[in-house]
Amino acid sequence: MPFKKIEVRPIAGALGAELRGVDLSSPLDDETFDEVKRAFHENLVIFFRDQQITPQQHVEFAKRFGKLDVHPFAKGLDDLPEVLPVIKEAADHAGNFGGTWHSDVTFYEEPALGSILYALETPAYGGDTMFANMYMAYDALSDGLKDRLEGLTALHSASRAYGAESRTSRRIAKGSESMEIKFGEDAEALVEHPVVRTHPDTGRKGLFVNHVFTQRFKGWTQEESQPLLDYLYAHAVRPEFTCRFQWRDGSIAFWDNRCVQHYALNDYHGQRREMHRVTVCGDRPFLAREAHPAAAE
Ligand SMILES: [Fe+2]
Repeated sequence: MPFKKIEVRPIAGALGAELRGVDLSSPLDDETFDEVKRAFHENLVIFFRDQQITPQQHVEFAKRFGKLDVHPFAKGLDDLPEVLPVIKEAADHAGNFGGTWHSDVTFYEEPALGSILYALETPAYGGDTMFANMYMAYDALSDGLKDRLEGLTALHSASRAYGAESRTSRRIAKGSESMEIKFGEDAEALVEHPVVRTHPDTGRKGLFVNHVFTQRFKGWTQEESQPLLDYLYAHAVRPEFTCRFQWRDGSIAFWDNRCVQHYALNDYHGQRREMHRVTVCGDRPFLAREAHPAAAE
């Protein structure tokens, strides 16, 4: 079906499209909003250029997609805690936030629907974000492995990223004064998610494990799980399943966290980068055994 209110320009074969004709500083009429949502479902990650929005406008746009999340470990703006500043100062030589392939907050029982990231200050070069299509990753597996994975549940927790012993977070915190991140024992709780999940809106199946938060398969030991998980992590981000977005000041990326992994490249040492992230709450992942009604649409 063609779009009437917006222009949708794919940026890669696998996923990702730039949307034109949308100004997010004012409320979208219902027809435009419906087209933005359809473009989001069809392209998995959507981009807007040259936007100028306040934190409040950022929040208002995000709220049309659902309730908003307040990050449990990284501190948001004082007056608008749903807006999480993601900052790397020019003097920071530590890791950057989001600098490995992952889905956001899969240590929640109900992981995020998606995040809307707005670029306030971007480096002259570098600092791109990559995205990978988890429908494609699932579809490309053999029928034998698909069957095996559909019978598996994975355990996720925040311990590797935010646990008291987390090396990743200590490295970021030590080199950076720019983000407040807390670590601790409340990062250790395990939650269960299906390894293959059905997208609640599109009905498509996608691979749902990630290197940062997935710990092991339920009923399997860590040692047993790791080889298959490592295979899936590498498979999921094959270059042909990805796109790469080059930021400019005023750019926005909105990814569907239910079927996309992302990776923030840390290749701009000596330059400052400041983003605002707002995250929309999602629902509990499930695997539909029967054909999902939305899949026929
Ligand atoms: Fe992330």
